[in-house]
Amino acid sequence: MSERARVYVGMSADLVHPGHINVLQQAAELGDVTVGLLTDQAIASYKRLPHMTFEQRKTVIENLKAVSSVVAQDTLDYVPNLEKIRPDIVVHGDDWRTGVQQQTRQRVIDTLSGWGGRLVEVPYTEGISSTQLNTSLKQIGTTPNVRLSRLGRLLANKPIVRVMEAHSGLSSLVVESTVVERGGRKVEFDAMWSSSLTDSTSRGKPDIEAVDISSRLQMVNEIFEVTTKPLIFDGDTGGKPEHFPFTVRSLERLGVSAVIIEDKEGLKRNSLFGTDVSQTQSSIDDFSARIQIGKQAQITDDFMVIARIESLILEAGMQDAVERAEAYIDAGADAIMIHSRQKSPDEVLEFCDHASRFSKQVPIVAVPTSYNEITEERLADAGVRVVIYANHMLRASYPQMQRVAQTILEHGRSFEAESMLASIADVLQIVPENMG
Ligand code: SPV
Ligand code: MG
Repeated sequence: MSERARVYVGMSADLVHPGHINVLQQAAELGDVTVGLLTDQAIASYKRLPHMTFEQRKTVIENLKAVSSVVAQDTLDYVPNLEKIRPDIVVHGDDWRTGVQQQTRQRVIDTLSGWGGRLVEVPYTEGISSTQLNTSLKQIGTTPNVRLSRLGRLLANKPIVRVMEAHSGLSSLVVESTVVERGGRKVEFDAMWSSSLTDSTSRGKPDIEAVDISSRLQMVNEIFEVTTKPLIFDGDTGGKPEHFPFTVRSLERLGVSAVIIEDKEGLKRNSLFGTDVSQTQSSIDDFSARIQIGKQAQITDDFMVIARIESLILEAGMQDAVERAEAYIDAGADAIMIHSRQKSPDEVLEFCDHASRFSKQVPIVAVPTSYNEITEERLADAGVRVVIYANHMLRASYPQMQRVAQTILEHGRSFEAESMLASIADVLQIVPENMG
């Protein structure tokens, strides 16, 4: 009796639907099916992180009747696994003939020809797709725990986590849903930043902790009602040390993934003022104690307390920044944010170079507001793991509001301003529920 053919099927299998089952059943008719299950990292390299972890997806797939075994596929490219397994047949849906996966497909065909293997393509199942399911899932929403733990998963699986500021339900919808194609891959924001600057400014208030924590949390709640992405909260100085545990627990309860607190005390002013206003940096001991208070207060394992170093902002020098970073990591900080208000990224890059030699490694967070020419790729190469665009949604809206207000005043009517505006039809489409 001849041996059964070895059949290989690569898949992400996040939201398993009848299309997947169809592919697997047809594969099983051809032989013993090994599923090459894409790791979270492989998936994150070309689209959004899956809803389920690798282990969860593996549990689902290995229990399907059509599947004999499951192996990890570490890259979008099939070739490393194919060379190891040398299957007789690869089965895939025929939808990959166009789009992002075209090259992957060609490499599969070329590699299989090396040992006389072949590719079998199954007609795409109409009427259901992962993209549709993803859209429906977004409408259903998420839970606090799932959202909270997502930042850690992003850090574990992406070279750099891309974060955009949101200060309202509307701006958070833009961050949630904007997707572009860059180099054949889908690119979107991974997470949101609740900025003290933009949260205060959108209320017409100064960035001096004058917007109280209840109002800040209320805004986070409103943002969470209409989005699924994780959020990092700008905790300013952390407030009174006695109050900080309550802030941490409230943030966790909502599903916020991390709080960033800065090593300043007294009246906090916005960092981008630098030394133009008087600001006091905390002692290393006091700030380390604040970090510890936060870490002790948290209930979940996944919440992060991130320490923000203001030494470069306040011109205390690189040595001071480096010394503080090591002390804050010792105190339990889960990550370090290094802030700078220089036009050039040099001091941040120099800090990263020091940080690469720290005995305990934690993620580095950068906020390239003033040194805005540096790319995410370059920051990632330097070792930055989180990039925050800290105020850009607010700064986008303000000049346009001003222009429209001026134009209406100048003309005594709104006709001339119309070309600067979204149409009412566009506005209605922003919120899907408007469309019924
Ligand atoms: C914020 O966005 O509120 C920040 C970053 O704290 S910065 O404004 O650059 O200080
Ligand atoms: Mg702030």
